[in-house]
Amino acid sequence: MFDRLPEYPWEQLKPYAAKAALHAGGAIDLSVGSPVDPTPSVIQEALEASSNAPGYPSTGGSPEFKHAVVDWFARRRGVEGLSPNQVMPTIGSKELISWLPLLMGLGPGDVVVQPTVAYTAYVVGAALCGAQIVSEADPAKWPANTKLAWINSPGNPDGRVLGVAEMKAAVDRARELGALLASDECYAELGWDEWEHELIPSVLDPRVCGGSHDGILAVYSLSKQSNMAGYRAAFAVGEASLIKGLVNLRMHSGLNTPAPTQRVMVAALNDDEHVAVAKELYRERRQVLLEAVKSYGFELADSKGGLYLWATLGEDAFATVDRMADLGIVVVPGTFYTEGPSEYVRFSLTATDAHIAEAAKRLSDAIGL
Ligand SMILES: Cc1ncc(COP(=O)(O)O)c(C=O)c1O
Repeated sequence: MFDRLPEYPWEQLKPYAAKAALHAGGAIDLSVGSPVDPTPSVIQEALEASSNAPGYPSTGGSPEFKHAVVDWFARRRGVEGLSPNQVMPTIGSKELISWLPLLMGLGPGDVVVQPTVAYTAYVVGAALCGAQIVSEADPAKWPANTKLAWINSPGNPDGRVLGVAEMKAAVDRARELGALLASDECYAELGWDEWEHELIPSVLDPRVCGGSHDGILAVYSLSKQSNMAGYRAAFAVGEASLIKGLVNLRMHSGLNTPAPTQRVMVAALNDDEHVAVAKELYRERRQVLLEAVKSYGFELADSKGGLYLWATLGEDAFATVDRMADLGIVVVPGTFYTEGPSEYVRFSLTATDAHIAEAAKRLSDAIGL
């Protein structure tokens, strides 16, 4: 009855995690993107002040929350003039991603498009409603019966950042097909290299969407930039009538974000300082791991934003996963994110400084550096 989805992919990593645990220094788990740094005190204090919540929360979001999102988009994302009725909170963004096709009424015969290398929840959303998933990064190749197309920048797992022209091509094609374009942007504050000081474009940016938000939805999360994964704090912003319809469906089905989480998101969105601190930590970790990974012999692809290094030794991904397990390091095979075989693995930067330094040391020691 409950077998519409395969076993959770991370189960396949258990033998490699067990092997890694045999390393004299213990296992270093770089296989998940779950933040490890403390939730910033400005956020913890906001939660303490928000604990009185006897009534049900607003499914569409409190006015304070919606204003904070509108202000944040203007201040941080180059998107001015949003209206609060274009905003709704979600219970983390994985929830919305996984249920959106069903909420849209999609089913057999409909296509959901995802990037060629993609975060795991897009395919889950298609599977839950019986729609077909097509993994295709090139908008020109999206099929005629596409009803929902996902783009993801910076991407998980590959750290690919889409520029204005690439995003605009996706918007234009989705509009041509009459499909909803959903843009998953949760790493947008975490750009590296040429993107470190550049604005990573949102789908709502007027240069991308021509100033109209018709048929588009931006999905955002505070899990990563604010170390709030445990709060399930996220939101979606887009065409007002779409948001209205979604909020109605979500109200009927109990998909409402806890009131304390909504209040805390206001504090998090209003404070840029803690995001800058988190970014600096990840920048340093990325530097340390990147150097070691490259010296070991990995080739990197993309990896220009977000919390992952997408790397290959030019061999089957599971051979690399096994090789890393011998060093006591757990990484994810690219097969979790692609259809068919892959020669890539994903290293996550969400580990403590000490663990990142130790992983880098093990990689360097392995090649006698
Ligand atoms: C691309 C992408 N989207 C969405 C999510 C889900 O984040 P959350 O459900 O914590 O908001 C993740 C988490 O790893 C992700 O990598």
